[in-house]
Amino acid sequence: LDGGDDRERLAGRHILVTAGPTHEPIDPVRYIANRSSGRQGYAIAGALARMGARVTLVSGPVSLPVPAGVDRIEVETAREMANAVAAALPADVAVMVAAVADWHVEEAAHKIKKGDGAPSLSLVENPDILQMLGNSPKRPKLLIGFAAETQEVIAHATEKRARKNADWIVANDVSGDVMGGDANSVHIVTETGVESWDRLDKHEVARRLAERIADAL
Ligand code: CTP
Ligand code: CA
Repeated sequence: LDGGDDRERLAGRHILVTAGPTHEPIDPVRYIANRSSGRQGYAIAGALARMGARVTLVSGPVSLPVPAGVDRIEVETAREMANAVAAALPADVAVMVAAVADWHVEEAAHKIKKGDGAPSLSLVENPDILQMLGNSPKRPKLLIGFAAETQEVIAHATEKRARKNADWIVANDVSGDVMGGDANSVHIVTETGVESWDRLDKHEVARRLAERIADAL
């Protein structure tokens, strides 16, 4: 379905995509994580590459193949993801799809033993990578965040757009079976308003978002 022109629409552009969860170690054998298959982010990275962009995909732990033409950098924690994103700049566009864990644990050097009683975990806030890019002197010209919400989807996405200095927030309602599933139902929150898309296959969401990015540049 790729038209000849489509394959060149993003030629010469560098686009940064984050995807997947982050894993935050509790001790050498355990971690806390966000629920994310990485499928939406990988589909977006692939769609952008098919339109000719140079794509850097900073990915948390997932079991997905690298899309054709995409340069993947694998990370585990939010702090590693923040460093990899900073190192990948400059970029014309950034699409932050990763489900980043909001906190990390003060890591125990040794495996916590069950016999020592239930441990209490002390959590420390992770860097907000999208917000860091939003306030950076190297801010990509088009900065796109995602927001997975279970209620008041548009209101939360609008608040995040402002707080993180993003251009668009792609809000998805994850109260159903979106996590790990094939389809996604999204709302694009921009400066001028909200555009709601029908429930679509994640690859079709990716293709349309890539077209919309090309239109905006
Ligand atoms: N994000 C990020 N770094 C973080 C947390 C979130 O880059 N440490 C990005 C996500 O990749 C996403 C957007 O910010 O593009 C919104 O993430 P979300 O978890 O919905 O926002 P939070 O500000 O963490 O708010 P919440 O309390 O709803 O989790
Ligand atoms: Ca969060």
